[in-house]
Amino acid sequence: MKSIAVAKGDGIGPEIMDAVLKIFKAVDAPLNFVEIEMGKWVYDQGHPSGMTDLAKKTIEELGILFKGPMETPKGKGIKSLNVTARKTWNTYANIRVFKTLPGVETVFSKAGIPINITIVRENIEDTYGGIEHFLSYDLALCRRFISRPGCEQVLRYTFEMAVKDNIKKITCGHKANIMKLTDGIFLETFYQIAKEYPNVIVDDIIVDDLCMKLVTRPDLFECIVLTNLQGDIVSDLCAGLVGGLGFAPSSNIGNDIAIFEAVHGTAPSIAGKNIANPTALLLSGISMLEHIGYMKEAALTENALFYTLEQNIHTIDFGDQEYPTYNTSDFADKIIENLGKYPSKNRIEWSVHHIHETKTRYHSKDNVIIKSKNPEILTIQGFDFFVSFESQPTELIYRCLNLKLSKLKLTGISNRGTQIWPNSSVYTNLIEMYCCRFEKLNIDIELNQNDVLEVFQELSSHFNIFSIETLHNSKEKMLFSSI
Ligand code: NAI
Repeated sequence: MKSIAVAKGDGIGPEIMDAVLKIFKAVDAPLNFVEIEMGKWVYDQGHPSGMTDLAKKTIEELGILFKGPMETPKGKGIKSLNVTARKTWNTYANIRVFKTLPGVETVFSKAGIPINITIVRENIEDTYGGIEHFLSYDLALCRRFISRPGCEQVLRYTFEMAVKDNIKKITCGHKANIMKLTDGIFLETFYQIAKEYPNVIVDDIIVDDLCMKLVTRPDLFECIVLTNLQGDIVSDLCAGLVGGLGFAPSSNIGNDIAIFEAVHGTAPSIAGKNIANPTALLLSGISMLEHIGYMKEAALTENALFYTLEQNIHTIDFGDQEYPTYNTSDFADKIIENLGKYPSKNRIEWSVHHIHETKTRYHSKDNVIIKSKNPEILTIQGFDFFVSFESQPTELIYRCLNLKLSKLKLTGISNRGTQIWPNSSVYTNLIEMYCCRFEKLNIDIELNQNDVLEVFQELSSHFNIFSIETLHNSKEKMLFSSI
């Protein structure tokens, strides 16, 4: 008997969770559901983290959370509970499987084009850090963190999953042609790890081209791995290919804790009406059963679901007027009635997979520090200063060129990432925030972090400084984008 934490969530969460738990009880899965207090409703009761201390302790002890959708409280500074949960518990791989479901008609099912795409989305990093600042009234900045060990965790998981699930090809989706450093390390790490898995076919594709190909030839793709934001967008696109959000399950996998939930949110407009579609949550729960190793129970449930859908037994979101619709609880009861039956197509045979072991380190005292095995030594090449200036840039350039600096010199100025010195065009629109780059005078100079003070002192007597970045080089290359 395995105990798992269950959070019913907000909006349609309790209705669809009750329906799914009823099915799992009928399947006789050896699970003990430990209900915990987590969601917007808990936040409303005065818990700023959206969960009680007992809920947090239970999740960390049990290692598995089966959750309904949760509403993000509206208001300044409150981060999404869903995103925080995934990040806090380091569930670095978000797996979303999109496949043609029997009885769910789509453009592709009508055209006889089968879809079976597994998206692996990096789940911790990227713009989901939610680190944003206004540099001026007119300019906001968002930081995007992509770490080498973070890429390594999710990419290695993807290749291991491919071996376990007999996935033959993995495609890396990215935008490394523009974000050469952040998407660059994701892509570089992808090909580095691929060398260790010679039996898996690999390729990569720029994410815009990927979107175009997904809506024209989805059958070309088997498994796609992406960074967080791109993965989020592409996976919703894939949900549309197979019939919508009501059919999109998701697993958030880490080394210690795993979270299983539907892709969709709390659907507030239909909450409390007993009409929501529980399929996505049920499919997420089936992934959870497989993850734990209950392959027989998972197959029994999935076959009953597919059989039910094949009988044109649907909830109202199908939009198919031809057949009567079922409400949430009746739909669940139909699946229970159909336990033991098989769909005519897509029948699931169960087998004992190599199970991804989820341990929990609840009793460990320290956080795990992840880092590259052989990090290169970095040296400081210079500094970027973001300064405000409201007029034409001529005076700014003049002043920056004439600062009294002993080790550094101006090497470039940009405005919203477009170069305005040494090269410029009068057709470039400018806003009041400039990035002035100062690099060491010659290669023999060694800079340390205190050298920033000299520039700061000189510049601050002329301009308001809003942000500073240190520019690094490794032995091989420069580790910052060019102006
Ligand atoms: P949503 O996914 O709740 O709804 C989008 C549309 O899909 C609505 O028309 C809704 O009625 C429909 N829909 C969603 N799930 C359905 C289901 N199972 N059956 C039938 N129809 C369904 O997205 P929205 O409206 O952007 O977000 C609402 C709330 O949910 C927000 O507070 C958001 O923060 C939260 N949210 C939570 C997520 C999570 O807990 N993982 C994920 C996405 C949003």
